[in-house]
Amino acid sequence: MSPYAHIAGWGMYAPARVLSNQDLEHMVDTTDEWIRSRTGIVERRIAGEKESTATMAVEAARRALARAHLSPRQLDAIIVATISPDHLTPATACLVQAALGADKAAAFDVSAGCSGFIYALSLAQMGITAGEWHSVLIIGAETLSRFVNWEDRNTCVLFGDGAGALVLTASDQPGGVLACVLGADGSGADLLVIPAGGSRMPASPATLEQHAHTIHMDGRAVFRFATHILPEAVEQVMRKAGLPLTAIDMVIPHQANMRIIEAARKKLRLPEEAFFVNLYRYGNTSAASIPIALCEVADHGLINDGSLVVLVGFGAGLTWGAAVVRWGVALPQPARPWWQRALYIARLAFGRLPAFLRRLLYRLWQALPSRRDEE
Ligand code: COA
Repeated sequence: MSPYAHIAGWGMYAPARVLSNQDLEHMVDTTDEWIRSRTGIVERRIAGEKESTATMAVEAARRALARAHLSPRQLDAIIVATISPDHLTPATACLVQAALGADKAAAFDVSAGCSGFIYALSLAQMGITAGEWHSVLIIGAETLSRFVNWEDRNTCVLFGDGAGALVLTASDQPGGVLACVLGADGSGADLLVIPAGGSRMPASPATLEQHAHTIHMDGRAVFRFATHILPEAVEQVMRKAGLPLTAIDMVIPHQANMRIIEAARKKLRLPEEAFFVNLYRYGNTSAASIPIALCEVADHGLINDGSLVVLVGFGAGLTWGAAVVRWGVALPQPARPWWQRALYIARLAFGRLPAFLRRLLYRLWQALPSRRDEE
């Protein structure tokens, strides 16, 4: 058993297309001023036609694996947190697994709204500290632009697309994920919901006409819940870790609304620089928002080895979750000769080849005349 789950790699992907508040002014009855002052959002990214939650997840995952110097074949599990999966079934994580060629990894999705990434992180930590898994890839990825009603100004100005990934590995060195708390209150299930497309309201011409496959939200009620639960979850997880609030170096909150973040910061009496905010560039990317923000924090050198980082999310369900991480890349990276590095990059780039060949062989086998005769 390894007592610690460390973050060994991180990576993010944001689609190229930018949709600004000014663009939205031409689409619905809104203004840049309203969106900025009520949410803090200035622009968001929108996935291209050929992109999906899985393709963006794969891009983020490749970057995280490269940083961790880990081959996809070393992964024991892949967990994708999303509310905008490629399909109802199979899990988006299975598509990611095939694309990476991570053929030894279990793969499944977590649906816990915007808290999904914290749920995935907690599961990965449990699997690692229990000794079941050594290396786990967790990804938060969303294509919310496909689930938004672009005629509803109450919701369409809020959301964006993107993906962020972390690689966690087992280590005997103290640090990594120190504590997690998770919570839910299903009595608020109707406050943030995509009503149709599931077993309760299957797709039909009527559901399409009613825009019932898009996000419906009671913004004010979610706002009240968020401003209360965000500081509460931070306090809870710090208590669980046995650390005072003053030990926090950086809080990375779910990037939903600047006013929610500001209210929480004041309640916790933490300085402005202790809260990372990038929602003005990406909007609310649901389960992807925390890992995207964490990647930017790490890439910009805003945290160092030993920094105490708190990740905190809240969202549909209603759900919430928080995690305390002692930052610091745990694993000493061996120096590799050039050809090993080239082989590694080729493996990452052509990871989907084995799955492709297996599918091809299977189809050829099915098409054999002798097989058809048998059936
Ligand atoms: N542009 C212009 N006006 C808008 C608008 C838009 N994009 N969206 C809503 N409005 C209008 C409303 O229709 C309302 O008009 P009315 O008073 O004539 O009915 C008015 O603005 C105020 O609406 P209100 O709901 O009080 O605004 P608010 O200050 O609560 O801000 C949200 C709205 C959605 C930004 C805010 O409630 C919020 O952020 N909630 C949490 C949402 C969230 O984070 N969800 C994801 C959780 S993971």
